Amino acid sequence: MHTLIVNGSPHKNGSTAALTDLLRRQLPCECTELFLREQALSPCVDCRACQTQNRCVIPDDFAKILAAMQSADAVVFAAPVWFCTLSVPMLTLISRFQCLWAAQASGVYTPPAKKNGAILLTAGNGSPKNKTAFIPAREALRLLGVDHPAEVLCPDTDTRPVRENIQAAEQIRQAAEFLTSDKPNPPPSGMI
Ligand SMILES: Cc1cc2nc3c(=O)[nH]c(=O)nc-3n(C[C@H](O)[C@H](O)[C@H](O)COP(=O)(O)O)c2cc1C
Repeated sequence: MHTLIVNGSPHKNGSTAALTDLLRRQLPCECTELFLREQALSPCVDCRACQTQNRCVIPDDFAKILAAMQSADAVVFAAPVWFCTLSVPMLTLISRFQCLWAAQASGVYTPPAKKNGAILLTAGNGSPKNKTAFIPAREALRLLGVDHPAEVLCPDTDTRPVRENIQAAEQIRQAAEFLTSDKPNPPPSGMI
């Protein structure tokens, strides 16, 4: 069992990394963390080549990252909330999922059977609007076969370090349990 964590924070030792560190400590399986800031990754430019070629033609690291996500048993998207959505590095990655969306729309791609996954977010404050950042992450994970990701939002990082957030730690514990389970059930309803 291999879990791939895709980290969309620009800070390798930031709040999001502190949250993924909590998760990694709880996971009994092999785990790889990929920092998007270390990848050569451009945003989708809507060139529409994927509509005829069923793949993205931009020559960068996306194909490699996609292969890693597809071969992992579980995929975790971790990112800070920026203006109530995902950070730009994470949105850049997700924009490239357009090739999967186009392939699905033309009937040449079907997301694989159930894959486990999770979305981990950190946010500087506690605004309820921050939850909207889950939406693009859910849409992208669905294209990888993750229909019911565990979802954790760790708020207030401006004033409280992630490691002092007891509630977030408990949610991470539940997410780790969910990620390694083989039950086709959605994650516990206590999650955001
Ligand atoms: C451009 C930008 C936009 C942000 N927008 C929000 C926001 O909408 N809501 C919020 O609570 N925090 C916001 N923040 C704060 C970050 O979400 C928070 O500091 C996060 O925990 C940083 O994680 P990191 O240390 O992994 O980068 C924003 C930060 C930046 C740089």
